[in-house]
Parts: sequence; C-alpha cells; structure tokens
Amino acid sequence: MTDKAEWEGRVGRTWAAEWQRTDRSFAALTRRMLTAAADAPFAGALDIGCGAGEVSLALAGANPGAQVIGVDVSDELLAAARERGAGLPNLAFELGDASRWTRGGFAPDLLVSRHGVMFFPDPVAAFAHLVRLAAADARLAFTCFRNPSENAWASGLTALLPSGLGAPPPPGQPGPFAFADKRRVEHILAAAGWRDAAFEAIDFPYVAGAGDDPVEDALSYFLAIGPAARAAAQMENGERAQFVERVRAFLQDHLDGGQVALQAAVWLVTARAPAG
Ligand SMILES: C[S@@+](CC[C@H](N)C(=O)[O-])C[C@H]1O[C@@H](n2cnc3c(N)ncnc32)[C@H](O)[C@@H]1O
Repeated sequence: MTDKAEWEGRVGRTWAAEWQRTDRSFAALTRRMLTAAADAPFAGALDIGCGAGEVSLALAGANPGAQVIGVDVSDELLAAARERGAGLPNLAFELGDASRWTRGGFAPDLLVSRHGVMFFPDPVAAFAHLVRLAAADARLAFTCFRNPSENAWASGLTALLPSGLGAPPPPGQPGPFAFADKRRVEHILAAAGWRDAAFEAIDFPYVAGAGDDPVEDALSYFLAIGPAARAAAQMENGERAQFVERVRAFLQDHLDGGQVALQAAVWLVTARAPAG
C-alpha cells in the first residue's frame, strides 16, 4: 500500500467493494473523530480522501446548513459515496487529487480526513495547498495510524507473511504508516503553514469479523484488503493455502465475544489555519 495510482485503480476498486466492512472496522474511531471535528459550527467542510464517504455523509446529514465536499482520486469509491449521499442536497463528491484540487469560491472552514492524508508523495506541498484553500482560522482534524508495532492488525498479519511479501511501506513513506511519527507530522504541518497542531492518541478495537462466522468474515476481509491480501495475490497455490491457514489461526486467537477485533492505534491530529 499504496500510492495515488493504486488508489485510482485496483486498490480503490477493492475498497469500493468493501466499504461496509471498512466502515465497521473504523466505527469506534469514527464516533470519536466526528465529535472532535464537529465541536464547533462550520459553513463548509472538505473531506480529504473521502473514500466511500462515511465521514462526509455524517457531517452533511448533521449540518444541513453547511456545504460538504468529499474529494478522492478513486472513481469507484466516489461512485459508492455518491450513491450513499444521493439524498443530501448539501453534499457533493468530486474526483481530484486533494493536493491540488480547488473549487472556485469554496474555502472550507473545516477540513477533515479519516485516514486519507497519508498517501501524498510531498506532504508539505499538499498541506500547504490545503491551508491556502482553507478559510482563515479553519480547523483541520484528521486521523492516521501510529506505529505498526502498536497496530496488531498490521504487525500480527505482517509477522505471518513470507519475507519480502506484502509488508506495508515503513513509517515516513507514503502509505498507512506515513504519519506514525508525531514529530514528523508536526514538522510537516508547521512547514505547510498550519498552526497549533495537537495530537490525541486513540486506541480502538478494529473489528475485522462479526456475524455468523466472525473468523471467516475477518479472513475474507483481510484477503481482500491490506498486507495479507497483497501478499496472498503474489503466492503460488500451495504457499497461499498454508498462509491462509496461518491467518485463520491468528484470527481465531482474536475471537472474543462474537467478534474478531484487533488492536488499532491512531493519532487524532488537529490544527488551525492562520487567523488571516
Ligand atoms: C485509507 S483510505 C480512507 C478512505 C476514507 N477516508 C475512509 O475513511 O473510509 C484512503 C483514501 O485516500 C484516497 N487518496 C489517496 N491519495 C489521495 C489524493 N492525493 N487525493 C485525494 N484522495 C486520495 C484514496 O483513494 C482512499 O479513498
């Protein structure tokens, strides 16, 4: 995982097919994030890397007087988002690279992202663009993963991979762990012109499997999305079968109370645009 070209193509397509399970996996985080994002009124919100749109939908639904725009590079994720948001006149989804996207006259006073800001090849330039786009004193609130070692869903699965296959890029490289290092993110935001950056560490259960057979549910999810899926796609049949058995046993070990839930650890990062 995962650069812009992959999100535009194969990875975006897979996520578009899996948005229900993705929203479920993030549910405990989403509640916390929305509380932080919507703790003050806003007139215009931009959801950066909105994916299938859950955060945009929640903001638009709860704030009918505000305009909400979700921007993403994946056509297929946006198709899912548009279908879900069809009943909300104050919500739009637009195809675009958030590091360059503009819409004349739209200067959001709230910029949010649930895990959509870690894929920019030049994050300082991207956040500098976003601060120029933002209204004076706009609020920024986004989530991103902390270190792989604190994220059992990643470290546990990566430990099962044959060496060299499928591991996500290390912290600092565009990918899910690009923003794991708080000091790096502070530097990026300050260099881009954002002020008052603050970090809240949130740990939550990443629900990967539920329903009649939570282990098989989690297994099929991880064989569709993330490091295990990427690695499995590169394996020969025999090696793949052994790997699937290892993942199944790992998930079985995390079955508790009718769910397979793995530890996830993120930053909730907030900052403000200059007062103007
Ligand atoms: C981990 S997913 C999160 C999606 C969504 N925010 C959610 O929480 O379900 C990352 C998203 O960022 C999008 N993305 C990656 N690079 C982008 C860019 N340069 N501009 C806009 N969106 C981007 C991807 O297409 C993907 O939808």
